Amino acid sequence: MTWRTRSNVAWLRELPGVKEGEPLASRTSFGIGGPAEFFFELGRAEAIEKAIDGCSSREIPYLLLGAGTNLLVADRGVDGLVVRIVNRDHEIEGTRVRAGAGLKMMRLARIVADANLRGFEFAIGVPGTVGGAVYQDAGCWDREIREVLVEVEGYVPGAGKQTWKPDALELGYRTSALRDGALRGALVVSATVQLARGDGEEARQLMARLTRERNETQPIKTKNCGSVFKNPPGDSAGRLVQAAGLKGAREGAAVVSSLHGNFIINEGGATAADVRRLIERVMAEVKRRFGIQLEPEVEMVGRWK
Ligand code: EPU
Repeated sequence: MTWRTRSNVAWLRELPGVKEGEPLASRTSFGIGGPAEFFFELGRAEAIEKAIDGCSSREIPYLLLGAGTNLLVADRGVDGLVVRIVNRDHEIEGTRVRAGAGLKMMRLARIVADANLRGFEFAIGVPGTVGGAVYQDAGCWDREIREVLVEVEGYVPGAGKQTWKPDALELGYRTSALRDGALRGALVVSATVQLARGDGEEARQLMARLTRERNETQPIKTKNCGSVFKNPPGDSAGRLVQAAGLKGAREGAAVVSSLHGNFIINEGGATAADVRRLIERVMAEVKRRFGIQLEPEVEMVGRWK
């Protein structure tokens, strides 16, 4: 590895509060994954910006981590620096809400309902952070964050602070320029959404009903990463997995949920390799049976080779 020079390692060791060999499993919703070579978590955007600037100019790989809800971290861990984003501030001005990237979507859904705003109820079904939601245009119940997003504050290493309108982020179903395009590696600092005046009690009731429904159709109390696959156009990955007879399929302690075919559950002690083998098996079987190539939605990071 060319980047792991004495001076780069010394620079990493001097980052404020940095830890070496920090386990990541407990920082992912799957409860799976090896250690971060270097790890730190900070709320202050400036400190994160400085760290990723330093990594970028030194060619040190870095990973921006939110709530770890859509991630499969390799058993051998992650090279370089993992930065956990924990800025959780928010500001409400009329019907506009600016939220720090580290705030959980579900928490923000409750905050805005309590402020008598509507239009964000869908976020009660989105497990990750605001930053993570922007990163891949997360959504639930056929609503996506791009529908309410008006502005994102971010940071591009080497280029500095940016303010993006949604168009610049190329948001689409579980994709964006941050995840798959020209803005890879850029940091989301905060997102502003435009909501409408509403009634807090109504919003809370709607969220309670949606959560009950989700409880019945998704194994939300288990260790999982949310949907494993994107839905192929016009079809549903869960339906296809079920039709292929794969509910309950297992590799080690990783098992396809019997409740929802697009969920893989870590029953306890599953390895990333177990999950990956199961993902590959499901993809091969769905392809063989129906000729459809499923595409993973979960992002696989770290040392796989
Ligand atoms: N279905 C089956 N068998 C299954 C699962 C689903 O036949 O095992 C059928 C259902 O009966 C339904 C259709 O497939 O007719 C769609 O299923 P569901 O309504 O559960 O939604 P989904 O398309 O599987 C999407 C999102 C979820 C989101 C739900 C609720 C994707 C990949 N997933 O799931 O998002 O919570 O809608 O709106 O788009 C996530 O992205 O991590 C996630 C959980």
